[in-house]
Amino acid sequence: MSRLDSAIRRLKSQKICLDFASSELSNISGVIVEIGLGNGRTYDHLRELFPKRKIYVFERDVNAHPDCIPPDDFLFKGDFNKTLIGLKDKIVEPIILIHFDIGSGYNSESNERASSLSFLLKDIIDRKGLIIGDQSLDKSHFLEISTPKGVDYAKYFIYKLI
Ligand SMILES: C[S@@+](CC[C@H](N)C(=O)[O-])C[C@H]1O[C@@H](n2cnc3c(N)ncnc32)[C@H](O)[C@@H]1O
Repeated sequence: MSRLDSAIRRLKSQKICLDFASSELSNISGVIVEIGLGNGRTYDHLRELFPKRKIYVFERDVNAHPDCIPPDDFLFKGDFNKTLIGLKDKIVEPIILIHFDIGSGYNSESNERASSLSFLLKDIIDRKGLIIGDQSLDKSHFLEISTPKGVDYAKYFIYKLI
């Protein structure tokens, strides 16, 4: 598969999973966490899907499109290995959706980031919440949910706390 086809599949899977979350979580109150702002595309989509919810964003190097930079109060700059620690003391509302898109294109680096996230996210996500991301998480903490139709297997993942 060409890198173009692979990128298209990934973006399509990403959008289907985020759209799925918006209907699944429509009756559950809480806030959203976005890890990996990048260009700001998924952040912008989340803003459209959840116009009334707070969205907290975590990014090491903020370099997004100017229209997609979160307000200062909602932006945690720096390495998520540091900024996610003690988050429950900083965000008091239940976190009902965490989306992470942190892959670098290099398997070993992406796996290492996913392993850190598995450890950090288990203490942050609300019991009713969903975690959606571009890497697989540790199954000893999370239950993998079947992805909606149209999502390429192994391109995007959905989890709940066990
Ligand atoms: C693939 S991009 C995200 C793209 C974004 N979802 C979009 O739609 O534009 C991955 C982002 O994760 C960020 N990232 C990777 N590791 C990180 C870490 N340890 N702490 C904070 N941000 C990190 C990178 O700086 C990069 O901007």
